[in-house]
Amino acid sequence: MSIDVEKKTDRNLAMELVRVTEAAALAASHWIGKGKKNEADGAAVEGMRRAFDSVGIHGTVVIGEGEMDEAPMLYIGEKVGAGGPEMDIAVDPLEGTTLTAKAGPNALAVLALAEKGNFLHAPDVYMDKIAVGGGLPQGVVDLDAGVVANLRNLAKAKKCDISDLTACILDRDRHKEIIAHCREAGARVLLLSDGDVFGVMATTMPETGVDIYLGWGGAPEGVLAAAALRCVDGQMQGRLIYEDDTQRQRAISMGLTDPDVKLGIMDMARGDVMFSATGVTSGTMLKGVRRMPHAAVTHSIVMRSKSGTVRFVEAFHNFDTKTWTPS
Ligand code: FBP
Repeated sequence: MSIDVEKKTDRNLAMELVRVTEAAALAASHWIGKGKKNEADGAAVEGMRRAFDSVGIHGTVVIGEGEMDEAPMLYIGEKVGAGGPEMDIAVDPLEGTTLTAKAGPNALAVLALAEKGNFLHAPDVYMDKIAVGGGLPQGVVDLDAGVVANLRNLAKAKKCDISDLTACILDRDRHKEIIAHCREAGARVLLLSDGDVFGVMATTMPETGVDIYLGWGGAPEGVLAAAALRCVDGQMQGRLIYEDDTQRQRAISMGLTDPDVKLGIMDMARGDVMFSATGVTSGTMLKGVRRMPHAAVTHSIVMRSKSGTVRFVEAFHNFDTKTWTPS
């Protein structure tokens, strides 16, 4: 393929991906605030799965809704797409099921794509994560350094005081110590009730006010967040956390030779990656789906690591002129 054709294909594919996350967000939006997280998730999965049918790839889901026997759609190993280049796909059709059920902020439909073999095959366990945005010296923070050392180094790199920094952390008992250390050091703490893909991405967007993400969240969400950060030169490290040996063996069987290794961003999302997210509920990064009679407006972010382009897409969907209606 000539460079120009390849570039055009990539660009077109990136826009195809937006349609896929839009479809998931539109489907999930019926369930915002209805207190039914499983129904919201099911609708997003179905919307996303159906939208993949018209994308020009030969895709394999590597981060998905679970194993084939656990998930009817978008299960690990499922083939999706209308045919084209071989691609690996990481999806979270509804990142923030509880947020959606409670109409909380920053629920997203999320998708990342890379050439075959480039995503970490992460089991459904926790991952200890640390992330910062772009434009900072490499290695400015480290998962194995203490919270205060990381805040000190980050403040130095950003030429500010620790008291000017905001750390974003999931509001969980397991994070009590990290939260206390951040506050004792003088940093602000933004506590999320859910949704750490947003939390990690927020470090790359000045308008969110977040400087660093810390703590344990889902490992699959970690891979998706790493893909997003790759596009904007952010930094991230992670380490898988196991509750028992079965989980550890599962990680090994999925391809991790050293299941306790500190993972760099390139261990999670290598090569050229594309990333798309559409807001389901409104937050500081994306507006949520706004529904009106026979129409809806969506707000998405789509990024490519190869070009470093970050594009925000606001789309008006007129259901009267469509041949299909999002469920
Ligand atoms: P769901 O969308 O599956 O509900 O996940 C939301 C989430 O908050 C993720 O963003 C995060 O990685 C994970 O759950 C944290 O898990 P836990 O709620 O067990 O702390």
